[in-house]
Amino acid sequence: MKDISVNFGDVSFPNPFFVGSGPTSGNPIKIISAYRAGWGGIVLKTIGDSIVRKSVRPMYGTMRRNKELIAFENLELITEDQLDTWDKYMKIIKSEVKIPIIASIMGGSDFSEWVKLARWAEDRGASMLELNFGCPHGEPERKTGAFIGQHPDLVYKYTKEVVSSVGIPIVVKLTPNVTEIKDIAKEAENAGAKAVTAINTVSGVIGVDIERGQPLPDINGYSGYGGISGPAIKPIGLAAVSKIFSSTSVEISGVGGIFDWKDAVEYMMMGAKTVQSVTYTMIRGFEFIEEWKKELYSFMERKGYSNLEDMIGIASKKMREYEFLEKVTKRRTNIDEEINVVRGEIYG
Ligand SMILES: Cc1cc2nc3c(=O)[nH]c(=O)nc-3n(C[C@H](O)[C@H](O)[C@H](O)COP(=O)(O)O)c2cc1C
Repeated sequence: MKDISVNFGDVSFPNPFFVGSGPTSGNPIKIISAYRAGWGGIVLKTIGDSIVRKSVRPMYGTMRRNKELIAFENLELITEDQLDTWDKYMKIIKSEVKIPIIASIMGGSDFSEWVKLARWAEDRGASMLELNFGCPHGEPERKTGAFIGQHPDLVYKYTKEVVSSVGIPIVVKLTPNVTEIKDIAKEAENAGAKAVTAINTVSGVIGVDIERGQPLPDINGYSGYGGISGPAIKPIGLAAVSKIFSSTSVEISGVGGIFDWKDAVEYMMMGAKTVQSVTYTMIRGFEFIEEWKKELYSFMERKGYSNLEDMIGIASKKMREYEFLEKVTKRRTNIDEEINVVRGEIYG
């Protein structure tokens, strides 16, 4: 049997598949179900400070082609449950779940809230912390979430503050809504983060009802810029992971549009040591993970990989600047052939 266990940020996980932070990691029932189904790790729904969150309703929207989900939008905030409720949740989780728990936290614009939450999570048995510097809606308006993730100096300061106040490893969750994600990852690394998670959702609008001139989702006649997830963002996530892999030595958890085991392998080959899935777990639950693990084992068998390290980053190492590609181009583009790629007749 091939080895799919992984050491990520100095913590050992039985396999690289994590349930990412979101509604499917928002209470003990779901978290215990994910553990029993065979997931390797769980990132809790982001836990917050004293401000009571109430997400807007409706908060979800979908973009489909031939019934297949292409993209998903959410306007969900962090958990609506208060810290004392999470106190109770953590007791249940810690007594039932035997895989490492990664607590996702988000304070406000004041350092002290981040430190308080970090210590709270460490005291309750979290094995790692994920700092949510990535939520693109609601939170940036009060100078947290993606607002922090968009400012390299703030990423450095907040990360350093948390790193120096707890003993457990810190993972920084990055927003893709920046000019150059590798520069932000570098700041997290310089501040002492063991790993980064890339990517959080991409800021977007899921569609417009053209009969009514209504942006979607329709929130009482209005809408807002939400976070896009699902298959549409996988190319953005792959590029982010590859850029970070090539320019830092921080470990990476890849997330964004992982809808089957092959998507997960793509992320690993671009440099991710672990992978996370959220939108797909909202649609399909948790049970498919045994199938993904089986497929991963047989893929490794077929390719002769004895452990995950054998494939981490192998595709990333083939990424080059445009100038280099011009030199290695073999022939002029055959435009008809390229159009056949667009039509789906050739896999490009
Ligand atoms: C409904 C929903 C809620 C989410 N809530 C959080 C959250 O609380 N904290 C966080 O860091 N990311 C949150 N995310 C982002 C996901 O963790 C993930 O980064 C993103 O959805 C891309 O992965 P996916 O395509 O597998 O969903 C949320 C995503 C969705 C769809």
